[in-house]
Amino acid sequence: MKQSKFIHYQYIPEDELPGDEVHLLESAMQATENAYSPYSEFQVGAAVLLEGGEIILGNNQENRAYPSGMCAERTALYYIGAIGKASQIRKIAIRAKCKNAPVLRPVTPCGACRQVMVEYEEQAQREIVVLMMGETGNVLKITGIKACLMPFSFDADF
Ligand code: THU
Repeated sequence: MKQSKFIHYQYIPEDELPGDEVHLLESAMQATENAYSPYSEFQVGAAVLLEGGEIILGNNQENRAYPSGMCAERTALYYIGAIGKASQIRKIAIRAKCKNAPVLRPVTPCGACRQVMVEYEEQAQREIVVLMMGETGNVLKITGIKACLMPFSFDADF
């Protein structure tokens, strides 16, 4: 897989992004609506753009047995795997909101999600764009999950 050599990220105002990315970020905020997070009260939404334009949504699903819960990113990615479309993943937008205190900076994926995202990137056989944003504020944009979010990861070479 062609991979970025250097960790490269940008903070970009949402209105300077291409239309498909603005739409994907709006979809991720829409996905927060169906988060089931009565315990943390933190609602996360993920929107994944597939080749051809289809968008798959995911959100965090908590449980009273706390470790049984699942993050938004993995909810979306595992569904995409389940329907056999992992090779079509091109871009992922992640957003969050919280009643108690507005989320003013980009929400970034947890370590477990990054580990999973790396392997979906391998299945897509190209670097995936990740757009991260809070309720407002600039968008943190990276291209390449392994290169930018998970350098020195435990990979298949071992
Ligand atoms: N969460 C996500 O859904 N994605 C992340 O990247 C970080 C955390 C969820 C898990 C839990 O339901 C809530 O946010 C608070 O940790």
